[in-house]
Amino acid sequence: MTDVLRINDLVVEYTTQRGVARAVDRVILSLPENRTLGLAGESGCGKSTLGRAIMQLVPYPGRIVSGEITLNIDHDQVWKKGTIPKGDVPILDMTEDQMRSLRGSEIAYIFQDPMTSLNPMLSIGKHFVQMQQAHNPDIEEAEAIERATEVLEALGILAERVNDYPHQFSGGMRQRVMIGLGLVLRPRLLISDEPTTSLDVIVEAQILEEIQELKDMFNLTMILITHNLGVLAQTADDVAIMYAGRMAEIDTTETLFDNPQHPYTQALLQCVPDVTKPEKQLAWIPGAPPDLVDPPMGCMYHPRCPFAMDICKAEQPSLLESDTGGLVACHLYGRK
Ligand SMILES: Nc1ncnc2c1ncn2[C@@H]1O[C@H](COP(=O)(O)OP(=O)(O)OP(=O)(O)O)[C@@H](O)[C@H]1O
Ligand SMILES: [Mg+2]
Repeated sequence: MTDVLRINDLVVEYTTQRGVARAVDRVILSLPENRTLGLAGESGCGKSTLGRAIMQLVPYPGRIVSGEITLNIDHDQVWKKGTIPKGDVPILDMTEDQMRSLRGSEIAYIFQDPMTSLNPMLSIGKHFVQMQQAHNPDIEEAEAIERATEVLEALGILAERVNDYPHQFSGGMRQRVMIGLGLVLRPRLLISDEPTTSLDVIVEAQILEEIQELKDMFNLTMILITHNLGVLAQTADDVAIMYAGRMAEIDTTETLFDNPQHPYTQALLQCVPDVTKPEKQLAWIPGAPPDLVDPPMGCMYHPRCPFAMDICKAEQPSLLESDTGGLVACHLYGRK
């Protein structure tokens, strides 16, 4: 099967007054067509930075230091000065103009806060028209609106509401509009960064189901970023767990939940409430993630790991195949 996305040894750093923080540290990832990868891990572990790097949208003072990101596109992409031929596109070699053409049409990114991403002065329909005309100046307004209503209706928003303004929509509706804007150009890869975090659980469940339906309808490959493991259990095919900028473990969702290999994954799963076992004490992970400006030697997780050995304090574990067929970066498992 084709990999829609491949990431190799990606390093992203933020240069701050305190020093350099490596937010993404030699990340390796491949994402086969039509699969949904859930990206999870504690706050600050680099999920959004990784997602943004794929779009070449790492905010200042961050920069992509090294590595490769390859996106597979299934048709030629026309931009203002030429054509990007279909096949594997080396994202980090693209100019800003080429990236602008790929963003939206091939890779879409849904941000967490829909209100700050919508213009209060523009109707919902106008957002869709501008989005499509930015990529295809010849498209007529009527056609752009027709495409918008098709996507919006799939998300449960009536066609007549395209004339309304963002403030006339509820939080859940606005997030649906953002998802619609992300999908209207039929991208190959959709990255959604905590798309439902600010919503109540009922709306969250509805939207996640709608995203699943749209994924099938539009033949999407997806990265779903969240720190809610319950959400991933329902929606992701595979899960990647990040810790302090590094990949700790990657496996199919089922295997990762049934048989987690990395002590960090095990600890994270202990923290998920289980309604069927109300007597179970909710665990937490002692300590805090490391300071990325001054990280510990060896495995980043060793100061919090109950199984830490001498080697863990000295040597970084590589991401190797685990017993379950996934990948794990842990001295306990990776070297069996
Ligand atoms: N603009 C910035 N300037 C300096 N450091 C930053 C900046 N943005 C992120 N970082 C640092 O990079 C690291 C990764 O941040 P990132 O936002 O990617 O994490 P995250 O996993 O998405 O967290 P969350 O779950 O809270 O969204 C953090 O330690 C953060 O402090
Ligand atoms: Mg984030």
